[in-house]
Amino acid sequence: MHIVAMNGSPRKDGRLARVIAEILAGAEQAGHDSETIHLVDLEVRDCTGCMRCQEDGADRCVIRDEIAVVEEAVRRADLLLLASPVHWGNMSAIMLRTLERLFGFLIQERPRGMPRKRNAAGKRAVLVTACSTARPFNWLFNQSRSAFGRMREVCRYSGVKIVGKFVLPGTISMGDIPQKHLERARRLGRSLR
Ligand SMILES: Cc1cc2nc3c(=O)[nH]c(=O)nc-3n(C[C@H](O)[C@H](O)[C@H](O)COP(=O)(O)O)c2cc1C
Repeated sequence: MHIVAMNGSPRKDGRLARVIAEILAGAEQAGHDSETIHLVDLEVRDCTGCMRCQEDGADRCVIRDEIAVVEEAVRRADLLLLASPVHWGNMSAIMLRTLERLFGFLIQERPRGMPRKRNAAGKRAVLVTACSTARPFNWLFNQSRSAFGRMREVCRYSGVKIVGKFVLPGTISMGDIPQKHLERARRLGRSLR
């Protein structure tokens, strides 16, 4: 199985990057291969809201910048690892901008009924977040929940099945990530099928 991890943090050496690496190391032990895209590296412009991705015959954004890198990676992936830090109680702007630009690549809206699923239909996903708020307040104050909720929304309408989740709360008081969290991440990676 090929896993594509997308890191939505502006920090390529941050907490999420470390968690992603650990999950992927576990996945490698289970025989899978992987690649990581740090979304911050890509020149991806904002969605203009033109909706031309929804016109007949289209199945992707008409702005052809480095969103193409993400589209091709999604095509290659059997499993997507979507990782975003919590920024202002939700997914990061970097992750949101990328997912907005994938709107027409992922779904086609219809005048009635549910949108038609496009290029990621049938794939699987693991969702990952990190936030400075400590447990249980990350849940009580809807920090982790909102970030997951929005990523879940994207997966649901795109036909992507969520097969795992990982939350790293309380990063404000962490130096290095405690071993128990890294072990949890590695176990998750090893369990992926
Ligand atoms: C702009 C910004 C907004 C943030 N907003 C929140 C927030 O609303 N809630 C929270 O718990 N942490 C928030 N954080 C903290 C990050 O979620 C936390 O530092 C996380 O570990 C970052 O992951 P990284 O090290 O991979 O970048 C924010 C950080 C930044 C930079």
